[in-house]
Amino acid sequence: MEKFYITTAITYTSGKPHIGNMYEIILADAIARFKRNHGFDVLFQTGTDEHGEKIELKALEAGVTPKEYVDQVSKEIRRLWDLLDISYDKFVRTTDKHHEEVVRHIFNKLYQQGDIYLGEYKGLYCVPCESFFTESQLVDGKCPDCGREVKETSEEAYFFKMKKYSDKLLKYIEDNPSFIVPVSRKNEMINNFIKPGLQDLCVSRTSFKWGIPVDFNPSHVIYVWIDALANYITNIGYDTDSCSDEFKKYWPADLHVVGKDIIRFHTIYWPIMLMALGVSLPKKVYGHPWLLFQNDKMSKSKGNIMYPDELVELFGVDGVRYYCLHEVSFANDGNITYELLIDRYNTDLANILGNLVNRTISMANKYFVGNVTNKGVSGQEDDELISLVNDLDSEVTGLVDSLNISGAISKIFDVFKRCNKYIDETTPWVLAKDIENRDRLETVIYNLLESIRVGALVLNPFLPSTSDKILEEINSKDKSLKFGSHEYSGMNASPIFLRIDKEEMLKKINL
Ligand code: MSP
Repeated sequence: MEKFYITTAITYTSGKPHIGNMYEIILADAIARFKRNHGFDVLFQTGTDEHGEKIELKALEAGVTPKEYVDQVSKEIRRLWDLLDISYDKFVRTTDKHHEEVVRHIFNKLYQQGDIYLGEYKGLYCVPCESFFTESQLVDGKCPDCGREVKETSEEAYFFKMKKYSDKLLKYIEDNPSFIVPVSRKNEMINNFIKPGLQDLCVSRTSFKWGIPVDFNPSHVIYVWIDALANYITNIGYDTDSCSDEFKKYWPADLHVVGKDIIRFHTIYWPIMLMALGVSLPKKVYGHPWLLFQNDKMSKSKGNIMYPDELVELFGVDGVRYYCLHEVSFANDGNITYELLIDRYNTDLANILGNLVNRTISMANKYFVGNVTNKGVSGQEDDELISLVNDLDSEVTGLVDSLNISGAISKIFDVFKRCNKYIDETTPWVLAKDIENRDRLETVIYNLLESIRVGALVLNPFLPSTSDKILEEINSKDKSLKFGSHEYSGMNASPIFLRIDKEEMLKKINL
């Protein structure tokens, strides 16, 4: 069985994650489930990033120890991932003992072989972003990422010799054209960072305590990025002198799914770290676009944060999954507002899908007391629908393999839309008036049931519980992804997605 190791970024435990963070996990989950359904031996890892100055400050504000703080937030993050049906196989925490130990070993090894040296860091530091900036990187004198004040800081620090590996990295990126996707991100990395010359990376801090101490100089803690990035290998059993069977089996990762803001860390620092350790590089890093609120970044200070559990209350798990997967395309940011969510829910989930399933089962029950087989009386309307359904899995596979997940889910909904059009074209209620047309009518209903069955199966990785529910309603256990000949019976229609009253819901959420 071919293996597929997929990871997400590990989420900061500075606070409760919002729907933007959740998007990435849903995206990776859809890919992981898809690969599993297609016979891959999948290892799907996600987790939490728990060290750093920001978290230390948050804990202080909350009057608890940093460990107490991250325990609580990590638990909450896991609860949200579970709530959204995320099928992760492993959940890593950077405060796990084993992770901490291996990170120390990695740091020691890099130091001993001369890739890390002691120097001094001078610069403008943004505490919330935990990043140093140069004067020219600031925007209006403030942090270019979050817009807050930066402070002039200088400290003794360890540095990683990035420059040493620059040519080797460039060659790897050029020799492996699909290592960084989308290609616009790859060009950005090459032209804006690698070609102008890499700076050595500061990899320790003395200004705070909440981190993994450097073994041979404990006044320093290992800077979060070395600590965080290592999760992808520590948690599957890498160590500097021996590695587990799991590591040997699953590494290198087949896909790192990360947001566009941290692609630099994953396509420059991470590969260089691995090169220095003599470990092979991941096969692909996908820097996905973002989900924005009214086309703006979500932040507490702007008061425009949407939380996953609150959205699930209103739209259900699959309502939220559908919106996220459909709305953010392969390379362009998506937008989320309550109005858009309601509209999309009503048009796609309630009308196109929900009504289709409901109408089809109702017709089967009304005209054939629920027993439907293929009577083989075909009509001119059938061919297009049948070939669309028979090609669906291979089309969707192509789209998932090229990481076009919004394209994949739209392709499935195209089949459901085509089914609705097929109902309009074949007009079953007219056929039902004439006993002569009985076999044609049964064939039409059969074609609809087969299309719904295959559509629901292909939909499984994206909306798992909806898929299960539909298959249960049409009472089918058949797993074939092509039109076949089955007998349908014992079907039961109950609405999958109820139409939302927009005004009422907006009132309820106070808009
Ligand atoms: N802890 C680091 C990642 C370390 S990986 C070795 C981090 N954490 S984060 O919590 O800030 O972000 C986690 C992921 O969520 C990142 O990939 C980030 O790009 C993504 N997103 C944050 N806001 C987002 C949106 N609004 N939309 C989509 N993804 C977003 O960065």
